[in-house]
Amino acid sequence: MSNPSPDASLEKIPRHVALIMDGNGRWALSRGLPRLAGHKAGTENLRRIIRASVEFGVKYLTIYAFSTENWGRPPEEVRGLMNILEDVIDRELAELHKEGVQLRHIGRLERLAPTLQEKVLDAVDVTRNNDRLILNIAFNYGGRDEIVQAIQRMMKDGVPPEKVTDEMVSQYLYTAGVPDPDLVIRTSGELRVSNFLIWQAAYSEWYITPTYWPDFDKKEYRRALEAYAQRDRRYGGVYDEVANKNNG
Ligand code: FPP
Repeated sequence: MSNPSPDASLEKIPRHVALIMDGNGRWALSRGLPRLAGHKAGTENLRRIIRASVEFGVKYLTIYAFSTENWGRPPEEVRGLMNILEDVIDRELAELHKEGVQLRHIGRLERLAPTLQEKVLDAVDVTRNNDRLILNIAFNYGGRDEIVQAIQRMMKDGVPPEKVTDEMVSQYLYTAGVPDPDLVIRTSGELRVSNFLIWQAAYSEWYITPTYWPDFDKKEYRRALEAYAQRDRRYGGVYDEVANKNNG
């Protein structure tokens, strides 16, 4: 997609942005609200950031909504997050579809309630031909689990060890065919990867902000994209003017 942004500070837009939407709980706590109120406010914010992504010309957005480790949270919070996913599909699917957003799921579906699994599969199917923004929802996702599954599938397919390459592993991941994230944004100031896209983000640029996710607005998103535009991506090599110009 060409970059629709007219201003020079955003002349290098990342093609793929990945988001760790952290700090919902602390946002709620700081207001004397239950944690789920933070997740609800985070969901409202997500809607704004999806729209902003389309406006900025980001082509792929991957969001970390529920990790394989999040099952360890109190049952009512787990239930609440499941309900949020269901609500998002029920209430937002038509609008997202109209806006040309393609929904994809990355992670394991099998532990979700059968009705929720069906809804996810249906949302993926309904939006499969949209191409304005590809929205990967990481739900019941774990980076290590993804790699373990990829190895298992390669072995089941009888791939001989010498045929295993970087590219082949990528093709066995949930994100097969999706370019690696150019930029990973983590809100709420934690300096951790938290098992998110650990293969795919090997060369991603990171932007960490102390802002809690529900307060991460379009203005701050723009600041993250401006910071990205200033980065020299070297992929372990030396600065390459051509690669950096073409990147994004
Ligand atoms: C981390 O904040 C956030 C999550 C585990 C859930 C993120 C989910 C949303 C923003 C809702 C959107 C969801 C879907 C399904 C589209 P935290 O609870 O760990 O915050 P804390 O570190 O302050 O406790």
